[in-house]
Amino acid sequence: MVQSAQSLSTDVKAELVEMLNQAVAETVVTTMLAQNFHWNVKGMAFGPLHELFQEVYEDHFTGQDEVAERVKAIGGHAEGRLSEHVARSKVPEQDGHQSAEQMIKHLSDAQKTVAATLAGAAAYADEGGDVATHDLLIGRQLVHEKFAWILDSHLA
Ligand SMILES: [Fe+2]
Repeated sequence: MVQSAQSLSTDVKAELVEMLNQAVAETVVTTMLAQNFHWNVKGMAFGPLHELFQEVYEDHFTGQDEVAERVKAIGGHAEGRLSEHVARSKVPEQDGHQSAEQMIKHLSDAQKTVAATLAGAAAYADEGGDVATHDLLIGRQLVHEKFAWILDSHLA
């Protein structure tokens, strides 16, 4: 049965808040990853990669805000500490001293990890009747999967 944010059961709400905060944490780390690479990428493809990495972090900055604000809309606490995001994120931080190819690979892997976390949370939201959260998460999943394709297309 379709539920509103206010009518979600306490158990579903608590689990969903955990899953949404997980997605936010991984998006936050991926945002910083893209900005790190935007600053430090080198080589003949500097121009387009500098631009692409900016497109990624600008999207993710908005995306993490949308998911965190959904946490608030369903009555949860949105984790806002960087240390907590890094600690729980399945996307690891990366050193900026690496080749453009390695940057693309790491950022693509990050997109796939975030997409999988979003997909899992979306499925749970759907089961719990929270169609609004499901739709938000599927929309974000599509964006991360599109960036994964764009990034992978740079690698022969
Ligand atoms: Fe910049």
